[in-house]
Amino acid sequence: MPTHSEFIPFHRPAIDEDEIRSVVETLKSGWLTTGPKVQRFEEEFARYLDCRHAVAVNSGTAALHLALDATGIKEGDEVILPTMTFAATAEVVLYFKARPVLVDCQPGTLNIDPMQIETAITSRTKAIIPVHIGGQPCDMGPILELARRCNLRVIEDAAHALPAAYHGKNVGTVGDITCFSFYATKTITTGEGGMATTENPEWANRMRMMSLHGISHDAWKRYTKEGSWYYEILDPGFKYNLTDIAAAIGIEQLKKCDEFWKARQRIAMNYSKAFADLKEIQLPICQNDVQHAWHLFVIQLNLERLKIGRNQFIEALREKEIGTSVHFIPLHLHPYYRDKFGYKPEDFPNASAAFERIISLPVYPGMAEANVRDVIVAVRQIVQEYRR
Ligand SMILES: Cc1ncc(COP(=O)(O)O)c(C=O)c1O
Repeated sequence: MPTHSEFIPFHRPAIDEDEIRSVVETLKSGWLTTGPKVQRFEEEFARYLDCRHAVAVNSGTAALHLALDATGIKEGDEVILPTMTFAATAEVVLYFKARPVLVDCQPGTLNIDPMQIETAITSRTKAIIPVHIGGQPCDMGPILELARRCNLRVIEDAAHALPAAYHGKNVGTVGDITCFSFYATKTITTGEGGMATTENPEWANRMRMMSLHGISHDAWKRYTKEGSWYYEILDPGFKYNLTDIAAAIGIEQLKKCDEFWKARQRIAMNYSKAFADLKEIQLPICQNDVQHAWHLFVIQLNLERLKIGRNQFIEALREKEIGTSVHFIPLHLHPYYRDKFGYKPEDFPNASAAFERIISLPVYPGMAEANVRDVIVAVRQIVQEYRR
């Protein structure tokens, strides 16, 4: 029996009166789509990360797509990325008829293994997309060094990594272009949304232009007093612009980004302390000199010490009214990647083994302390009941 009366969801966004007021204000302003709120959101985001350019778009996937376009990915190119990631990281490569080349993860951090990137490089490789799994920055030093040596672009998938830092630098200022997601479950949300950051003005201008049909970058202003009806299509672009309604939420969320992070970190520390003595559970491994965003708290079950598998563990938690998730089913295990590229489970032994063992526990700022305790009690009870 659960100790709490209501289901504890895996995630609940932290939306309060600030976001509601801001959206209502925007709805009343007469300007709903890309406009002054988006501009302000971009400026405040760039200031927050201390980066030169921030381009707002309507998803993290769109940001990744535009980043690959801006850095000149073409048909037949190869882009290296981890198998342990979400669909979006690889599908954007396929949009170009380029090839996503999968690489295994490190068993502890679940991040891409920099050593294995090197062996995947060919004469067709043009870029690397490291993914900061759960919000822990990848080991960017060796990745950037490799990229410099082989003339590759580094596009970071930071969908989980706001706010995060690597060796004192904010994620968003490290690689060539960094892509964030503001999907509903992310560390700050606009419902759906994303942002691409870069120090390079040419890439920023290209991404901005291509995010709105490939027409000149102030296209949204054509309906304003200072705008003009005239526009030119410079390249066939996309419809990836963020709305002012979404940006109105984002502006308020960004103000609370540090406070949200502290709350998630506190929960992560509580879990870590509470499970430290359990040999049945491997806790997230935190690297030195990084700031983990704690978007996810991923435990790995030591299956040899338990009588049940990961799926039954999740089911047992559900019976105790606790929602969880799995991040991720590695790409090479999905039918499309398996059939199209002939990938086999044993090609990526670390990711294949980790997949059998991982569970993401709830971690979000609005989570009541009592609920954190409920999760701890439930996990400990299940371990006790099923330990070998
Ligand atoms: C690792 C990773 N990359 C990219 C994305 C795509 O972000 P979005 O849903 O905003 O398109 C996600 C989203 O869920 C993700 O988890």
